[in-house]
Amino acid sequence: MHDPAAFRSLHLARFHAEPAVFVAPGRVNLIGEHTDYAEGFVMPAAIDFATLAGISPRTDGKIVLYSENYTEERTFDAAAMPTKASKHWTDYPLGVVAILAGEGNKIPGFSLSLWGDVPLGSGLSSSAALEVATMLAVTSLIGVTYPGPVLARLCQRVENEFVGANCGIMDQFISANGKENHALLLDCRDLSFKLAPIPPDVALVIANTMVKHSIAGGDYATRRAESEAACAIINGHRGGVPFLRDATLEDLEKWGHEMAPKSLLRARHVISENLRTVAAEKALEKGDLVEVGRLMAEAHRSYSEDFEGSCVEADAMVALAQDLPGLIGARLTGGGFGGCTINLVERKHAAAFAEALGARYTAKFGIVPQIHVCHASGGAHRLEF
Ligand code: GLA
Repeated sequence: MHDPAAFRSLHLARFHAEPAVFVAPGRVNLIGEHTDYAEGFVMPAAIDFATLAGISPRTDGKIVLYSENYTEERTFDAAAMPTKASKHWTDYPLGVVAILAGEGNKIPGFSLSLWGDVPLGSGLSSSAALEVATMLAVTSLIGVTYPGPVLARLCQRVENEFVGANCGIMDQFISANGKENHALLLDCRDLSFKLAPIPPDVALVIANTMVKHSIAGGDYATRRAESEAACAIINGHRGGVPFLRDATLEDLEKWGHEMAPKSLLRARHVISENLRTVAAEKALEKGDLVEVGRLMAEAHRSYSEDFEGSCVEADAMVALAQDLPGLIGARLTGGGFGGCTINLVERKHAAAFAEALGARYTAKFGIVPQIHVCHASGGAHRLEF
């Protein structure tokens, strides 16, 4: 991670003002994919990769945004802020300002520095980390405090209403509310959650296929629409099913024949994934890692075959891990169509596992994957110096 003290100095040198500095992590999802927008269950953990946001007030009415990753600075007039995204990194901080202003907050001028090490486009929620860090920074500047779940909702709105990606609540929620050494079993309907302890001898090994993932792309939206079409058919028959969270596998047996074949498959993934996610948390609580691994394997099969959310490289990354010593479970994590796999691995085997998996993947595709041995970190907070 970037040294926070160096980041603070960087802001000080550029803007000649002491910043308040906030950190927000990326995330990995252990299980529960494409269930959040169906008001179902997910089980993510925050990870060590994160975004830092440093903020200080200005007196000239300007909002100046600086990204250390892009080494680029952009200046805006606080009284006339853009209301539309422009497919630029500033969309995220500008979206935060727009959503906060829409909530009735008066936004004064400020200088904001940003830096992050969540790998971009790898399905580890670099954008959620950016939104949450910026949201904490700007709300602290204006003296407003939102509870974690509310803050996460506002950040989701940045993504949905400003950036234009129709994502669910998972990424922003875990970034804002993660707990060290735990995953969260989150109920995306009411945002209640249960802490799922990750045993200390289990490592989260994140393997990047190096295939770029994007939820702004068409596939995420298409899959979502297909699963929602299946939901509408069930709801038309028996009511009380506004979301697939409320549907059952029996519903698919009864009315699946009325659905487009792809819709039926997408719905089968979402409904069964909800069951698996709740079961995985129970297994984790009992310390039954064999069952957790079995559920992860079944989740990957469902994500790849029924949801068709995987890709050749991610399927291979999961397959290549299977007989490596220490593996508990492996699956593609995040929005899909590329990105990373999550491997639960006995910690004593983690380093050798990472090396062997990387070598196998390189031998197969001629691509060197980034493989990270991580632990579940805490959620977003202010850094004190
Ligand atoms: C992306 C979205 C999340 C969620 C996952 C799939 O990460 O941002 O809201 O839908 O994909 O589980």
